[in-house]
Amino acid sequence: MKERLEQIKAEALKQIEASDALEKLNEVRVNFLGKKGELTAVMKGMKDIAPEDRPKFGQLVNETRAEIERVLETSVKKMERSVREAKLKKEVIDVTLPAKKNNVGHRHPNTIALEEVERIFIGMGYEVVEGPEVERDYYNFEALNIPADHPAKDEQDTFYISGDILLRTQTSSTQVHEMEKGKLPIRMIAPGRVFRSDEVDATHSPSFHQIEGLVIDRNITFADLKGTLAQFAKELFGEDTKVKFRPHHFPFTEPSAEMDVTCFKCGGTGCRFCKGEGWIEILGCGMVHPHVLEMSGIDPEQYTGFAFGVGLERIALLKYEIDDMRLLYENDIRFLKQF
Ligand code: DAH
Repeated sequence: MKERLEQIKAEALKQIEASDALEKLNEVRVNFLGKKGELTAVMKGMKDIAPEDRPKFGQLVNETRAEIERVLETSVKKMERSVREAKLKKEVIDVTLPAKKNNVGHRHPNTIALEEVERIFIGMGYEVVEGPEVERDYYNFEALNIPADHPAKDEQDTFYISGDILLRTQTSSTQVHEMEKGKLPIRMIAPGRVFRSDEVDATHSPSFHQIEGLVIDRNITFADLKGTLAQFAKELFGEDTKVKFRPHHFPFTEPSAEMDVTCFKCGGTGCRFCKGEGWIEILGCGMVHPHVLEMSGIDPEQYTGFAFGVGLERIALLKYEIDDMRLLYENDIRFLKQF
């Protein structure tokens, strides 16, 4: 029996020695010390031993068990330590590495320009409103004095959803929505996206943005239009900016004009930026046509008004001296970050 115990111990220690993982050490524990293990089996043979030898035998079994346990425990501790060390080594953090850059978003030049325009008009007591991008022919054309056979319709060739429903070609449609509300006076600007079936080039895009303006009250005259837009130009392009109105035609205003501002690069003497003109065209405007007022239920004998429409991209391009509109839509972060 004594030899058998020696044998078991030797075999256990050999297996412990050969174990290269915690699971293996656990297997050794189960195989030798467990309920169905070798030592338990030996204990079961106790009944075949003479009663007087039993205490001695029991002690021997206990000593063997203790010895195996001790060696096993030491090996487990050693194994655990080396596993932990390997793990730490793998997870080591090099604090001298350059930090990951946190890319914070940036406002688009269009957004910066729009907020500037909104700030100016809100300062003059205007309300900022929005209209639908998907529009009825009536709001985009008919109610703005552009009947079905009007040539202005060709100039603004658009995307039709059905015969009567289209993507708006101009924010002027918001004028009609505001007038139809029947609340006077009106002092509003309406920024938004517009759509035209145009080829993409440096100055055109099938989708761009406009800011519409509309003022309707008693006794509004062209002088109000002029003063307001001159003030707008000064705030947007600088105190020294002068404005000039050239007669033009828009179906929904009468009289109509285009407004130029003195080139803010050369101050009006002519340079590469204004193509030697000294002036830069900036917006369309005019006194709201009496027929337009009438169609939306406003009495032109009581009320008059002025309107204007300005291209948002045009302002952004001018203000930030960007020479190609396509850059505004490419969303190249290296470009956008500059503004
Ligand atoms: N809707 C015109 C366009 O897209 C711009 C415009 C001109 C708007 C004169 C107006 C205006 O309100 O009075 O070309």
